[in-house]
Amino acid sequence: MEIVVTGSIAVDYIMSFPGRFRDYILANEDKISLSFLVDEMHRVRGGTAANIAYSLALLGERPRIMATAGEDFADYRRFLEASGVDTSALKSIDGVYTASFFVSTDIEQNQIATFYAGAMAYAGDLSFHDLADRPEWAIISPNDPRAMLRYPRECRELGIHYIYDPSQQIARMEAEALLDGLHGADILIVNDYEYELLKKKTGLDDETLRAEVRQALIVTRGPDGSTIWAEGRRWDLPVAVPKAEVDPTGVGDAYRAGLLKGLALGLPWPVCGRIGALAAAYVIEKPGPQSHHYTLDEFVRRYRETFGEDAFTEAMQA
Ligand SMILES: Nc1ncnc2c1ncn2[C@@H]1O[C@H](COP(=O)(O)OP(=O)(O)OP(=O)(O)O)[C@@H](O)[C@H]1O
Ligand SMILES: [Mg+2]
Repeated sequence: MEIVVTGSIAVDYIMSFPGRFRDYILANEDKISLSFLVDEMHRVRGGTAANIAYSLALLGERPRIMATAGEDFADYRRFLEASGVDTSALKSIDGVYTASFFVSTDIEQNQIATFYAGAMAYAGDLSFHDLADRPEWAIISPNDPRAMLRYPRECRELGIHYIYDPSQQIARMEAEALLDGLHGADILIVNDYEYELLKKKTGLDDETLRAEVRQALIVTRGPDGSTIWAEGRRWDLPVAVPKAEVDPTGVGDAYRAGLLKGLALGLPWPVCGRIGALAAAYVIEKPGPQSHHYTLDEFVRRYRETFGEDAFTEAMQA
């Protein structure tokens, strides 16, 4: 199935501070000028579009990313291509850096983060109308606000099914833009915190929100699993327990990749949600959102062991 993945492409700088931010911030109440000496830093590939596409490629699909990156993107592009991702609609912008995410965590798990938009600010110039061919499905994940406004409209114009995934952008988007994006979306997916924020901002209640989307509303709840409302029903789905809890960065993106894999195979909703949950568990077991690896065979085997059913295996053999 042809899937176009839109969202951010970023390089993440993840640092650990061996102290407590609060000790410094409280001592500098009037004027803030702080520098934290960190003793550990990892530079990893990230960004919502790249994370989703990477897991989708592991699951045997060939997703096409439509996004913008900087002139420093050559190595990252080679990695994605080698992983099975189609980067032909991923545009490098000369003279700017790829979006960068700087996050420091202290010993109390408090975080201070900065996101530099860089080349992502140009994503609103890209258009679904310019793609060589029309995909069946698209996912619209956190990105430049102009892009998040433009893409849902274009998908509706072109008859492309889309998953609306506004995530952390809900906080900064206008109610009108959010309503426009979710109206006519096939699927709306958010985590529980974002779901409450979305209801507050748009003024819609559960029932009205469910009626806005064409196929399904999905709410993920971290270690408590996920809920899918579709076909007039509700499914509460469990997590797949990770073998080790190393780093949760990118779990949400992996869940979306698993969901898309299920849609590509035309599987029932609860199966789509379970594939998402297992794809997420693999991410937790490794540091960074694209450090995990599995073959499709391994994934299918672990799916059967975890959930005790064969719907996924049978669909792969059909
Ligand atoms: N600790 C966990 N153990 C097992 N599975 C988990 C855990 N945390 C998340 N998951 C799986 O990942 C899915 C998405 O997680 P979550 O609701 O935390 O997404 P998110 O808040 O969007 O994450 P992100 O930080 O990537 O934005 C969950 O529904 C669950 O299946
Ligand atoms: Mg998320």
